[in-house]
Amino acid sequence: MSAHGTPVPMTARRAGPLAGEAVVPGDKSVSHRALILGALAVGETRITGLLEGQDVLDTAKAMAAFGAEVTRQGEGAWSVHGVGTGGFAEPGQVIDCGNSGTGVRLVMGAMATTPITATFTGDASLNRRPMARVTDPLALFGARAVGRSGGRLPMTLVGADDPLPVRYEVPVPSAQVKSAVLLAGLNAPGETVVIEREATRDHTERMLAGFGARIATKQTGEGRVITLAGQPELRPQAIAVPRDPSSAAFPVAAALIVEGSDVRVPGIGLNPTRAGLFETLREMGAELAFEAPRDEGGEPVADLRARFSGGMTGIEVPPERAASMIDEYPILSVVAAFAEGPTVMRGVRELRVKESDRIDAMAAGLRAAGVEVEEGEDWWIVHGRGPGGVPGGATVESRLDHRIAMSFLVLGLASQAPVTVDDGGPIATSFPVFEPLMAALGADIRREEE
Ligand code: S3P
Repeated sequence: MSAHGTPVPMTARRAGPLAGEAVVPGDKSVSHRALILGALAVGETRITGLLEGQDVLDTAKAMAAFGAEVTRQGEGAWSVHGVGTGGFAEPGQVIDCGNSGTGVRLVMGAMATTPITATFTGDASLNRRPMARVTDPLALFGARAVGRSGGRLPMTLVGADDPLPVRYEVPVPSAQVKSAVLLAGLNAPGETVVIEREATRDHTERMLAGFGARIATKQTGEGRVITLAGQPELRPQAIAVPRDPSSAAFPVAAALIVEGSDVRVPGIGLNPTRAGLFETLREMGAELAFEAPRDEGGEPVADLRARFSGGMTGIEVPPERAASMIDEYPILSVVAAFAEGPTVMRGVRELRVKESDRIDAMAAGLRAAGVEVEEGEDWWIVHGRGPGGVPGGATVESRLDHRIAMSFLVLGLASQAPVTVDDGGPIATSFPVFEPLMAALGADIRREEE
């Protein structure tokens, strides 16, 4: 089933070379944070390049429900009149975060230190995902959560009356957990300290500094120690959202595996905490160049140029790189299927609790398409079949997971027989223009009813 409605089966077929420019939408992580911090600042934040995917639209709606004035002014152009730190009002309805783990976890953090109560829900995928990883640290501030068994949504969160600052070591590599704690720390007195052993995406820290919060990060023997001074007055900002490297990954991967392709993907955010996939692809022998590197809105950006790469070989991906490419393992496994030899991915337990169990979803679909996959709890290996070597000819499940759907459609562009995904509906959560963008490059991806 798609996130909201009937399934949309889609089929990808092998076609000619992909060529041209792929202008992908704004970064999902940065978009959520821009809306939430905008809602917590005093005055008007203006955002350009906002991702208008369902996940982010659900966060925009949530911010309005908490009392911010959120208005769309044009394509990707949004204005948020914030209510100030601690100024959230109690929502009058259940907050539906749809498919978005980032949305619900960050919003829970943002309200946890305000004395209001809110109830959260999501789609079938989100309501299966673990929330104790955020509600446990939020309880240290004094917030109380009551949800379904196993800490699942729907869940009600009662914000702390008299919040305490917290020192918290994040037990799993998760930017969502780190960010939830930092956002909660905004309305606690004193200093909130978050420690992460492995660096995860740091958009929250960068953006908090931009909004005028006092936040400092130190690399120590324990890991990254982030200290935030509570109760700042956040100053509204003009935010230009960089284009999403996690979305860029799909046209880039397609160009690498479809013979004769040459695709440019301009203006992609290359924050080092996000760019692990591109480094990995280059180590595999991908013809991938970073052109015109520059800085935009406080984030490093470059134009990517990807060409068909017939000589790629599998590698062992360094486990310490996992956090910087955690959303890209599904599409990496597709590229790996067209490389020579095994690609080994270890230290990736977190893939089991994403929008779907991504190791299981990819292994099942790759096997159905004729690719050998081995897997364990926190590792998997894809045995490459070389350029043009993937049989395809399968219908696979997308499991309410946008990245699984897009990964298998990219697989179908270079496999011998077409690949069908049972539901491409979830693609709209992060990449609403995926179909026209891929079509403009020359890809043959069609909805089944056409
Ligand atoms: C995100 C963090 C990651 C990532 C997700 C976006 C964020 O999740 O998978 O797509 O914006 O903070 P985890 O925090 O669960 O690793």
